Amino acid sequence: MANKTWKVGVIGATGMVGQRFLTLLDGHPWFQPVALLASARSAGKTYPEAVGNKWAMNVPIPAYAKDMTVLDADADAEALVGKVDFVFCAVNMKKDDIKALEERYAKLEIPVVSNNSAHRGTKDVPMIIPEINADHLDVIASQKARLGTKRGFIAVKSNCSLQSYVPLLHPLMKYGVKQAAVCTYQAISGAGKTFETMPEIVDNIIPYIGGEEEKSENEPLKIWGTVENGEIVNATSPVITAQCLRVPVSDGHTAAAFVKFEQKPTKEEILSAWANFEGEPQKLQLPSAPKQFLHYFEEDNRPQPKLDRMTENGMAVCAGRLREDGLFDWRFIGFSHNTLRGAAGGAVLLAELLAAKGYFD
Ligand SMILES: NC(=O)c1ccc[n+]([C@@H]2O[C@H](COP(=O)([O-])OP(=O)(O)OC[C@H]3O[C@@H](n4cnc5c(N)ncnc54)[C@H](OP(=O)(O)O)[C@@H]3O)[C@@H](O)[C@H]2O)c1
Repeated sequence: MANKTWKVGVIGATGMVGQRFLTLLDGHPWFQPVALLASARSAGKTYPEAVGNKWAMNVPIPAYAKDMTVLDADADAEALVGKVDFVFCAVNMKKDDIKALEERYAKLEIPVVSNNSAHRGTKDVPMIIPEINADHLDVIASQKARLGTKRGFIAVKSNCSLQSYVPLLHPLMKYGVKQAAVCTYQAISGAGKTFETMPEIVDNIIPYIGGEEEKSENEPLKIWGTVENGEIVNATSPVITAQCLRVPVSDGHTAAAFVKFEQKPTKEEILSAWANFEGEPQKLQLPSAPKQFLHYFEEDNRPQPKLDRMTENGMAVCAGRLREDGLFDWRFIGFSHNTLRGAAGGAVLLAELLAAKGYFD
């Protein structure tokens, strides 16, 4: 693996998640960004012209992107054949248009690693949190058969909100997680916004994020599902109920979680399950893998978005305030960086997993 590199395109490069991709790919040991794509509105402009004052990262535009001309994701798709080994995709378009765009790239034999929700429900498209369900990559073979491709396929990452509690529930599944209630407190970057572009959030909470509660309740069941006869069959438990709120935080989603078990574990058992948990990315030592995936804070006032969002370069999931609950068995606070672990970072880690397992060769 050490000397191998892959050429990458980023579709939606001018967006909030796309900008994260650009910064994460700057100096990446395996992936070399060679094409930046967006809508026809941006096509033909240099990247700095196209992104303009929408650049929202706290580092400058990477040097490699300064002279790159943005391509049209629709009109220039064929031109990418043979030039990129795979693409990342994070676009703001209608669901059916995203589905069609991603399938088109896959059928051009360009694998797509997607941040979009359009294909998350497709039974032969794996939805991966690399530490949890790397084995779901097995379903790609039947997806390729359906699409009639040799190397083209779509793999997606899950919604950002659930990454603040599902990774913490996962090592506890051996105790039979029966029910979980979660309230999420979600950052404005999750809506592609900054405080400048979303002034209405200052001194405020917006108690509705369209579609988010359904995703937070249903997507975990696909992640905990099993591959059977070329499809992912969803798990039937636990039952999850979610309320999702938009709060005045720039980056980082917090979750207040309440959990009921078949066999209630002790506090020590929960803390030990979190401390000792590792998945494929840690075993394979993937470049973006956090060394310690789950971080527990003993302090009562942690984790906090402002202090803890960059734990392990924003790729860890944090927890705190584990205590017994009068209604459920246990309650705790979970936290993860929504545009790093929850979006672009999670997709880069998924791409590293795919690369390590030979899916881009
Ligand atoms: N933000 C998060 O934390 C987060 C987390 C997980 C998943 N996601 C998902 O990631 C996707 C992108 O989110 P975002 O926050 O980055 O959105 P965003 O900031 O609004 O960016 C949207 C991107 O889509 C491009 N685009 C729009 N219409 C297009 C078209 N017809 N053809 C090609 N490109 C087009 C835009 O290009 P132009 O600049 O040319 O218009 C821009 O690059 C969404 O599906 C979102 O649900 C976001």
